[in-house]
Amino acid sequence: MSIQQNILNNFKFHESDLDLTEPKKELMVGLKNNKKYIPAKYFYDERGSNLFDKITVTPEYYPTRAEKSILSKQTEDIVNTIGKGCTLIEPGSGSSEKVRLLLDRLLPTCYVPMDISRDYLYKVSQQLALEYPALQVDAVCSDYTAEMAVPDSIPRHKRVAFYPGSTIGNFKPEDAKDFLSQIRNMVGDDGGLLIGVDLEKDKQILDAAYNDAEGYTEAFNINIINNVNSHLGTTIDSSLFTHHAHYNQEKSRIEMHLVSTASQQLVVANDQLEIVDGERIHTENSYKFTVDSFQKLANGAGFSAAKVWTDDDELFSVHYLKAS
Ligand code: AVJ
Repeated sequence: MSIQQNILNNFKFHESDLDLTEPKKELMVGLKNNKKYIPAKYFYDERGSNLFDKITVTPEYYPTRAEKSILSKQTEDIVNTIGKGCTLIEPGSGSSEKVRLLLDRLLPTCYVPMDISRDYLYKVSQQLALEYPALQVDAVCSDYTAEMAVPDSIPRHKRVAFYPGSTIGNFKPEDAKDFLSQIRNMVGDDGGLLIGVDLEKDKQILDAAYNDAEGYTEAFNINIINNVNSHLGTTIDSSLFTHHAHYNQEKSRIEMHLVSTASQQLVVANDQLEIVDGERIHTENSYKFTVDSFQKLANGAGFSAAKVWTDDDELFSVHYLKAS
C-alpha cells in the first residue's frame, strides 16, 4: 500500500500496490464459456453508474428507497446497537451517499471507503473529509472483491463493515459465504457488519423493479457491452442486444440476460469470439432472501445476528451481525 497525504489533515488516500484484476482474462473466460456471462461489476463504468442512479429513483425500483427509509428512521437504534466511535469500513463505497445518513449520530472515529474507481473515490472521499472535519477519512483504492485489506495504519479498535444496497445478492450463495467470511476476517473477533439485504416478495413486484417503464434498466444492461468493448478493444454492437430480466422463483434470484438478435464474429487480440443469433449472455444475478435465510448464510460465515430492521412494507432488510 502506498499513502498519499493531502492538505486536509483528516484525509489520507491509500493505494494497493498489487494489481490483482485482469479484466481482459476475466471477460474472455466469461464470453468463451459455453453459457456466456459477464461479471456484474462491469456494469459500473461512468455511464453505467449514472444509469444505475437513474434506476434507483424509478417508481418500480423500491430497494434504494426502502433501505434509505430504514437507515433514516432507525438511526438511533442502529447507533445504540453498534456503539459510537468505531472504525467504519465500506467496501464498494461509490458515492458514499448512504453512509451520510449515519455519520452524524454514529460518530465513527475513522471512515474507510474502499473502491476501485480511483478518481471518483478520491473526489468523493476528499469532499466527505472536508464536510466532516472531525472524522478521519482513510480512503483505500482497491478491488475489494479480489483483496479485502485494510492498511496497517488504520486504528485496530472495533471495526464495523458497512455493505448496503443488497450487493451481497450479486454473489452465488457459496461466493456470498466466502465474501462474508472475508469481511469477518477483516473486522476481527470484536467486529461487526451492517448490511442491506433485499427480501423475497411477489414475482410481479420483482419483475417490475428490473423492467422499469422508462427503460433505464434496459439501457444499464445493454451498456455493459460498451464497457466490455473498452476493456477488450472490441466492437461488439450493443444495439443488437435486447434486455431480459425475470425472477427465478426456484433459485430466489432475479436474472438479467442480454439476448443477441444477430450473429456477430469478433477478433480479440490473438483470439476469436462468436456470438450467435438468439444467444444469451448472463449479466447479473440478484438473490433475494428471507430474514431467516440470510441469517443462516451469515452464521456459516462466522457471524451471529444481533438485530434486523425492515421497512413498513417489509420489502427490504438491514442486518447488524456480530462476529461469533
Ligand atoms: C446494486 C446489485 C443491488 O441487484 O438490484 C439494479 C443492481 N441491476 N437493477 C440490484 C441492479 C438492475 C442492484 N445491485
